[in-house]
Amino acid sequence: MMLVEKNVPLQPFNSFGIVAKALTLVRVSSEVDIAAVLQDAALRAAPKFILGGGSNIVLTGDVKSLVLKVEIMGKRLVSETAKAWIVEAGAGENWHELVTWALQNGYPGLENLALIPGTVGASPVQNIGAYGVELQDRFDSLDAVDLTSGQSFTLNAAQCAFGYRDSVFKHSSMAHSAVHGSDAQGFGLAGKALITRVRFSLPKPWKPVLGYADIDKKMLQSRIDAPDALQIYEWICDIRRAKLPDPKVIGNAGSFFKNPTVSPEQCTDIIQREPKIVHYHLADGSVKLAAGWLIDACGWKGKSVGNASVYDKQALVLVNRGGASNPVTGGEVMTLAKAIQTSVYERFGILLEPEPVVV
Ligand code: EPU
Repeated sequence: MMLVEKNVPLQPFNSFGIVAKALTLVRVSSEVDIAAVLQDAALRAAPKFILGGGSNIVLTGDVKSLVLKVEIMGKRLVSETAKAWIVEAGAGENWHELVTWALQNGYPGLENLALIPGTVGASPVQNIGAYGVELQDRFDSLDAVDLTSGQSFTLNAAQCAFGYRDSVFKHSSMAHSAVHGSDAQGFGLAGKALITRVRFSLPKPWKPVLGYADIDKKMLQSRIDAPDALQIYEWICDIRRAKLPDPKVIGNAGSFFKNPTVSPEQCTDIIQREPKIVHYHLADGSVKLAAGWLIDACGWKGKSVGNASVYDKQALVLVNRGGASNPVTGGEVMTLAKAIQTSVYERFGILLEPEPVVV
């Protein structure tokens, strides 16, 4: 039986801990629940917002769209070939629990992505990534339901159009963009499809992904030069705990801005002015700059607007310093974000792009 809930508090369902309500919310634990929503004329016609773990959103007010809270569970090995283990998980599963489960059951390959907050269903939406691995490197396929027709479909990696913290699920369709005038690409599945299950391809034989400064440091300190997957998992957990705030303790949405990419010419110009700028050369010749460094260089660490603060150990993360009792508002987060954008733009000529979805 589908339960339509009204005026549901969303504070427990977003990792910033922002107070807002869903005017209408339906929990989806299987395809049957989606079919029930689509059989109801009013719900079928309503614009929809899909809520996973709420760890990459900024709520700026009550959500008027129908909120579909994804609670599809299950984890299993689907198949094993000479080249890979194929592991499948329900979209409502917690991401870190999947990483842990996979390792414990002998399917390594996700360890660099340990402790990323959020759900399995959200992981392809923003193509999560950390320490040299992106979701797209371990992705096999996903199942989704078209929220207009009710049809189920499967997408492979190419069809997901993965980019840096980006996929087809972050873009609205042509009709939608014509109304909002915001999305030049004109394709997309944001609000149009609900991801139900994701399959991961974990390559055999397992090979460690090393080469990040933080991991190199762990190798030197521990004198382990051939770490196994569990060792890397533990290192990644340590590194993240040391530098990123635990959303259960201090509300946040992970990195608030994407690391910007600039042309080699722009980069030469910036390096001449700012020799210490942290940057990485990409395969296509462009250069990625560390947004955290840019923000830090502008002196933002620890600064606040109301209860929104720049985290003092990682300038790329904005946090709720008011806790659950006196929580930050979406407006405060966005005011702080805009002030940061302005100051980074004035000093470096670079416009930072927010990473979370602003609702
Ligand atoms: N830095 C500073 N000051 C700061 C923050 C960073 O100088 O306040 C410098 C660091 O010293 C380092 C560089 O900037 O040299 C990069 O910092 P870090 O290694 O912490 O990584 P990041 O670029 O800030 C990205 C991802 C993280 C991911 C880490 C590790 C993005 C937007 N963020 O952060 O992802 O965990 O790399 O791979 O790509 C997320 O997306 O929510 C997220 C946490």
